[in-house]
Amino acid sequence: MKKIILSAFVLLPFLMNAQESLIQNVYARDYVTLNGSWNYIIDPFDMGYYDYRLQENPNGFFKNRKAQSKTDLVEYNFDTSPLMVIPSDWNTKNKQLFFYEGSVWFKKDFDYTKKPGKKTFVYFGAANYDTKVYLNGEKVGEHIGGFTPFNFDISEKVKNGSNFIVVRVNNERHPEGVPTINADWWNYGGITREVMIVDVPDVFISDYLVQLEKGKYDHIVGNIQLNQAKAGEVIEIMIPELKVREIFVTDEKGFAQISIHAKPELWGPENPKLYEVVLSREAEEIKDQIGFRQIETRGKEILLNGEKTFFRGICIHEEAPFRQGRAWSPDDAKVLLGWAKELGCNFVRLAHYPHNEHMIREAEKLGIMVWSEIPVYWTIHWDNPNTYANAQQQLDEMISRDKNRCAITVWSIANETPHSDSRDVFLGKLAKYARDKDNTRLISMAMEVSGEAKDVSKVQDNMNTFVDIISFNSYLGWYGGKIEDMKTRKWNIPYDKPFFVSEFGAGALQGKHSSETEIWTEEYQAQLYKETLAMFDKVEGFAGTSPWILVDFYSPRRQLNGIQDFFNRKGLISNNGVKKQAFFELQDFYKNKADEYK
Ligand code: GCU
Repeated sequence: MKKIILSAFVLLPFLMNAQESLIQNVYARDYVTLNGSWNYIIDPFDMGYYDYRLQENPNGFFKNRKAQSKTDLVEYNFDTSPLMVIPSDWNTKNKQLFFYEGSVWFKKDFDYTKKPGKKTFVYFGAANYDTKVYLNGEKVGEHIGGFTPFNFDISEKVKNGSNFIVVRVNNERHPEGVPTINADWWNYGGITREVMIVDVPDVFISDYLVQLEKGKYDHIVGNIQLNQAKAGEVIEIMIPELKVREIFVTDEKGFAQISIHAKPELWGPENPKLYEVVLSREAEEIKDQIGFRQIETRGKEILLNGEKTFFRGICIHEEAPFRQGRAWSPDDAKVLLGWAKELGCNFVRLAHYPHNEHMIREAEKLGIMVWSEIPVYWTIHWDNPNTYANAQQQLDEMISRDKNRCAITVWSIANETPHSDSRDVFLGKLAKYARDKDNTRLISMAMEVSGEAKDVSKVQDNMNTFVDIISFNSYLGWYGGKIEDMKTRKWNIPYDKPFFVSEFGAGALQGKHSSETEIWTEEYQAQLYKETLAMFDKVEGFAGTSPWILVDFYSPRRQLNGIQDFFNRKGLISNNGVKKQAFFELQDFYKNKADEYK
């Protein structure tokens, strides 16, 4: 096998502001929401950002100017512009914007009372894709990436009384972007997740990690980081149910290691036990709900809390049930994960990008393990250092936000990426970065299958040494081959690791019925599920699967009118929430499998 030399990219300064460190567990902080009605202005030629010579305009829309007299020329007015309820993608809120890719400006007024001894941040759950934020006419920061949170310190810019925030979101795709210009999901643009104004003490706990030491069941470790390099800060950690009350003191970097000897009840699908964990100091108290578990592999087995487990999964896009558009809320999460639970799942693959925090926290409550992934998808520009820096930043933000979420058992760094030396270097670096940041979870990626001989499928990928489970997408019977081929198909997966079928599936229009030999019928999809599951169930090392996909979803790549109508129809449930026959095929398999691998 070709030796992969990890070349150290000479990273050019990544073309965006250095991100401020993320406030951990923002929902536990003192915040006011900016969810609700925002004025918006569609700006296809970026009139609000550039002058007619394409130079940045110092008096752009972010100034929120008003005409001062009858002769004053101001060619925009937020206050007379339409309103959109945020969080939301714009594509499903205005017919003019269904296919729109470009800039939209958003503006919201809010009153604020400054508090002495406090810092103030503005926090975004996510916005897709290129976001610039202004407060009272001055820039506060910008962010690239459509699926991870970011926050900016506005302490010096927020005023007592009335303020206005302006956000420019541009969802244009870029070849060097992450994802690149080609993806099989709708390019929903906008402020797609929650926005809050957060108050924290001048010196505050900006980040923390609390979890079992890798491989141990009676030692809780982690760390606490203040926003400032301040020694001697006394922080108490309480876990009342475990009768834990311990004091830690920060070092000269404002950092403290945590070490607590306790034996918590373990989190798992059968018992999704979460503990209240309280971090407190004189100026603040932060409460979190944290579960404790171990995930590891042994040979071809995945072990949860030392017991062999089988990932009974399903893939899910962040698409709102029934109404379409980006999902973002606890209610959306409850519906989607409720369907997964009904299917018999103990695992979900949240494709192909980090989903909103409510999805992860709801999965924890339901005892559903999570595969979380960054959108390093298909033909990424492997040789571009800024593309790598972007991917690494999104990986960093994904792990930073969710490192205390026990439901997450897999970090995935890619999906269906074409083989090349530069791709192997890029992904090898990402895999190492993920493991350096968090060596307690499984690292994986969705690989592809290569044909070997007529009746043999092979998984062959240089990345096999970087991942803990060999995951791959197999579309035998859909993108090539026939369903009956599965009866004789052999698999060559030459790695002593568990294998996980991260995708298989077929399209079916809900309500279309005929014989199981006719494509697009529910019968065909159900038969493909039946035969695929039977095929893999015979292969040694089969440790789970997350078929593609729970619900039909919008995609710009699915044009077959009368059948697809811009929907990818591989869902087990239609976009109207109606279950197809294959739903029950998979449910039946999981109900049987559950006993075999309990
Ligand atoms: C690929 C890809 C998915 C896509 C699916 C399909 O495996 O990972 O994002 O939607 O196949 O073609 O339906």
